[in-house]
Amino acid sequence: MTGKICGTGSYVPPHVMDNDDMAKLVDTNDEWIRERTGIARRHVAEQETTSFMAGQAALRAVEQSGIAPEEIDMIIVATSSSETIYPCAACEVQKTIGAVNAAGYDLNAACTGFVLGFNAAQAYISAGMCRTVLVVGAESMSHMIDWTDRSTCILFGDGAGAVLLRAQEGAPVWTAAHSDGKKGPALTGLSRHRKDWEKEGEEKESYIHMDGQAVFKFAVRKVPEIIEEILEKSGVSADEIDYFILHQANRRIIEAVAKRLKIDISRFPMDLEEYANTSAATVPILLDEMNRQGMFRKGHKLILAGFGAGLTWAGCLFEW
Ligand code: ACO
Repeated sequence: MTGKICGTGSYVPPHVMDNDDMAKLVDTNDEWIRERTGIARRHVAEQETTSFMAGQAALRAVEQSGIAPEEIDMIIVATSSSETIYPCAACEVQKTIGAVNAAGYDLNAACTGFVLGFNAAQAYISAGMCRTVLVVGAESMSHMIDWTDRSTCILFGDGAGAVLLRAQEGAPVWTAAHSDGKKGPALTGLSRHRKDWEKEGEEKESYIHMDGQAVFKFAVRKVPEIIEEILEKSGVSADEIDYFILHQANRRIIEAVAKRLKIDISRFPMDLEEYANTSAATVPILLDEMNRQGMFRKGHKLILAGFGAGLTWAGCLFEW
């Protein structure tokens, strides 16, 4: 048994900030941001919390699937920006959608979180532990960034995406995942509770700090590697993959990955122009957009790949 996607959903806050709005806050401009990142706008939460957005995306995925919420066995919410540590966002989602029989927990692996959650769901299903699993990626990155730091604040947005997986006989799912804790300092969001870091004189704000070029180089090297690893494991060739759905951090990263793999960029869909980097939410938001535009057909082969803080990176290959 593997988990087949039987519903997708997403939610982004209605409040939009374009690059000109960012230029009113920091010394930047539309041309620089578009050229270096491909981002034109981002949706920014005003009243909406991470678990609210997760719940809305989940409601839409469940509604599309036609599956009763009571049938959901497990809810995994990938997030690093929930408004509460507990109750976890997954329990809030359970309450919102009425999944009274589901267990749930949050998973934090930054931008890689959704793909790791998707892989965990596949493992639960193939082990026979669960039949129906909801996987959500939801983030309020606007609470994590220093709005006076032009090198990071222009990159991120808020939103949530969800997929509902149901056990079915079908093609196998191939997965891979890696971490490199030694490279953790390249991308950090510190907890306010780490008094020891204050004593060491390090940054004490919880804002995201990033060595942009180090993260860029890591992504451009490791994402092609993990895609090749999955292709090799599965015996599927790159030509057979219909879409490579990558974490939407930066258009230049995605273009560089496509170039390294010698695959036409048209098979790497992107929506970061509209939403920017919503961390764990980018992959499920893009999946939902493509699904609702009717871009997937039964039997289509998809590769998902996420990468981010940790450093972490993960991928999977499955059939629609
Ligand atoms: N507007 C205008 N100028 C800027 C801005 C800005 N918003 N930000 C930086 N600059 C300036 C810099 O100060 C620098 O000026 P200097 O040459 O006078 O010192 C110049 O632009 C070039 O800066 P670089 O950092 O070298 O620019 P680069 O081409 O590397 O682009 C970027 C920076 C966009 C951050 C890039 O490195 C990147 O995208 N890295 C990956 C980041 C990423 O995707 N992170 C998320 C990973 S996923 C997760 O888990 C959160």
